[in-house]
Amino acid sequence: MSELILGIESSCDETSVAVVKDGKIILSNIVASQIKSHKRFGGVVPEVASRHHVEQITRCIEQSLQEAQITKKELTAVAVTYGPGLVGALLIGVQAAKAFAWANDLPLVPVNHMAGHIYAARFEKPLQFPLLALVVSGGHTELVYMKEDASYEVLGETRDDAAGEAYDKVGRVMGLSYPSGKEIDQLAHLGTDRYHFPRAMLQEDNFDFSFSGLKSAFINLVHNSEQRQETLSQEDLAASFQASVVEVLVKKTIRAAKTYPVKQLIVAGGVAANQGLRETMKQKVSAELPDKTLIIPPLRLCGDNAAMIAAAGHVEFIQNKRADLALNACPGLSF
Ligand code: KG4
Ligand code: ZN
Repeated sequence: MSELILGIESSCDETSVAVVKDGKIILSNIVASQIKSHKRFGGVVPEVASRHHVEQITRCIEQSLQEAQITKKELTAVAVTYGPGLVGALLIGVQAAKAFAWANDLPLVPVNHMAGHIYAARFEKPLQFPLLALVVSGGHTELVYMKEDASYEVLGETRDDAAGEAYDKVGRVMGLSYPSGKEIDQLAHLGTDRYHFPRAMLQEDNFDFSFSGLKSAFINLVHNSEQRQETLSQEDLAASFQASVVEVLVKKTIRAAKTYPVKQLIVAGGVAANQGLRETMKQKVSAELPDKTLIIPPLRLCGDNAAMIAAAGHVEFIQNKRADLALNACPGLSF
């Protein structure tokens, strides 16, 4: 019999509810984005995010079931993101999931948001272990080694800013609106790496990252040119910034994949939507690691969504991971 998981995601600025069959077939994936409300503040305002989640969550649950054309009785379990993320935002999803699970007598499965990003790859291909996942989002940049389903070893992570955070911060300096990753990506394709910013920690013998030095170098260049009343090309700035981020992410991932006996590589999270990263990673993997499979989820599954939470939740469900009604949000949850 097939397993139908209702996934609920509310860790940041997207309220999302999905129904996924057997961990790999999306029957519905409703995503209510709040970006418009946060744009004018230049970033996510936690209080505003929580209020939007409260307004959207019930509608998203109903719409998700309707679109999947199933009734509550047909569901197997409810999977919910309980961290990491904004505590007030997470609590809305967690409370909704608890209430729904209790009212419909369904098992409740707690899911780590970052695991969800990795399992978005499951909609493309079956996962083969051991694998290496580069998870790049607005809050995280991590290289994760997985020996088997639901087993996570963090090989390296950012020591300061996450890659997406760096995109959003330099975007602000460029006068772009939040979140600016996509726009910088588009501009980058029209420019050249003229400014050659530093490639942080590339020579170091570890799998950690750092993006704050790059951000400072970028800001200094822009401020100095403003003082000299020089105008810099937005396209070249974007291309130079992106070249630095992509080179570090790709080289460190390839190095980790050569160090650990992996069969597959996954690139996941909001920044995995970056065209420069997708193209360079594909080229380098086929040139340097031709025997390994690379999975990068389609764009709509790179950003926050509940289908990925249901997919990760399915694996946890099979492994009998359950939460009771005391489940709380864990804003600082790690692997
Ligand atoms: O995974 P995600 O949707 O939310 C978090 O869990 O953080 O990632 C959002 C981040 C933002 O920082 C956004 O600027 C970045 O992903 N992003 C991109 C692109 N699309 C979204 N960064 C670079 N290039 C893109 N095309
Ligand atoms: Zn995310």
